[in-house]
Amino acid sequence: MNFQKTFLWGASISAHQTEGAYKSDGKGLTVQDTRPRDNHEIADFTIASDHYHHYKKDIKLLAELGVEIFRFSISWARIFPLGSGAVNQSGIDHYQKVIDECLRYNIQPMITLNHFDLPQALEDIGGWSNRETITAFKNYAKTVFKAYGNQVKYWLTINEPNVMLLVDQKILGKQIPLQEKYQQFHHLMIAEKYAFKLCHELVENGQIGPVPNISLVYPATSKPLDNQAALYFNSVRNWAYLDFSCFGRYNTVFKDYLKQKDISITFAAEDEALMKENFPDFVAMNFYTTMTVEKPTDKNKMSEGINDQQSEDIMDWGFYKGVTNPHLKKNQFNWTIDPEGLKTTLQTLYDRYHLPIIITENGLGAKDQLTENGKIHDDYRIDYLSQHLEQCLNAIQSGVDLFGYSPWSAIDLISVHEGISKRYGFIYVDRTEKELKQLKRYKKDSFFWYQKLIQTNKIPLERR
Ligand code: BG6
Repeated sequence: MNFQKTFLWGASISAHQTEGAYKSDGKGLTVQDTRPRDNHEIADFTIASDHYHHYKKDIKLLAELGVEIFRFSISWARIFPLGSGAVNQSGIDHYQKVIDECLRYNIQPMITLNHFDLPQALEDIGGWSNRETITAFKNYAKTVFKAYGNQVKYWLTINEPNVMLLVDQKILGKQIPLQEKYQQFHHLMIAEKYAFKLCHELVENGQIGPVPNISLVYPATSKPLDNQAALYFNSVRNWAYLDFSCFGRYNTVFKDYLKQKDISITFAAEDEALMKENFPDFVAMNFYTTMTVEKPTDKNKMSEGINDQQSEDIMDWGFYKGVTNPHLKKNQFNWTIDPEGLKTTLQTLYDRYHLPIIITENGLGAKDQLTENGKIHDDYRIDYLSQHLEQCLNAIQSGVDLFGYSPWSAIDLISVHEGISKRYGFIYVDRTEKELKQLKRYKKDSFFWYQKLIQTNKIPLERR
């Protein structure tokens, strides 16, 4: 089976992980520029892949790759250096040039409004704990919809609020107390509702979707209590967010979780109506893995025995505890690989929301090697992508309305907390953690493989 001709092929990046130029042309600092680093041996985001200065070259390469969409995020602090207040015209101009460059090659920009990089000035007033941040976000969203809405039709709201809150220490560099965390959840989701509303009001034919990271949660055994654990973690990690986005409500399992944790959410007068009146046009989903949990039985053992990179943060006494799934392989960075889980995730998600789905992240972080003659033989990435795409085809065949695939990542970028050595791109960026070299771009084997896939709408059998 082939993909339909209308299926959208893309590639994705985020601003802070690629752009660099962290203080150039009036940009304000963001929480990603200031967050305390646990490992100073790895690259920071100050120069990253220097996409800010290489965007023309990078987009030209993406055109050669053949993508129809390019998912990137706008750095809010380039548009509003202080999060709100005066607009920085250089920031507006920069993204205008990026958009023009995409359109020159017939590549549709798919823009994420915010990808982990909240302006520091807003963090200084409490970040997402303070409703002022919602007001600032509304104004920022309105500004970019007005500036680019006549050219950009695909919009994404706030990248992975679920992962940002669950793995706060790693992504934001600080732990947020539980009560505050779930108040932030509410504020993030309300901000998203404003983005849906404003996009529909201001962008003619505009389409907008939420962009959570979805990892279906399996019970470790058929024990009823392990199944309960999976139910709660599925709700807290996945459905609480999408139920808010797509149904405009808190789901019952999540409400029970909050009640048992003694957490109460403060609503503002406008929230109820806003939640129930504004919905997305599609769901964008980032998928890397699935999770497996059991019901924790011994509080003393809560921090032991969890060696799964993606499960290590799952330790919630009374509810669930992450375990390694013995049936699945892992990548070099200890992330579980589960292509069949992607099919199940797509089916579950489609069955729940009945909205078209696009995958906006999926990919393999690996320690690629540049050979002396400028090649990167990343067969392992081709294998990973092939296996996941086969499951996309299976999901489509089973009735899921999956309309596009935009893997992570277009070019090599700085991983959230594992530097440049963990590479995801189709395009290699020649730098090390500490040495910038020339930041030259090279096409990996996966580049040619993906190019062929896009040309034929069929998963190529050959690897090179
Ligand atoms: C996603 C994020 O959760 O995972 C990306 O949206 C991130 O920003 C990606 O890069 C892979 O994670 P990591 O930690 O390997 O960079």
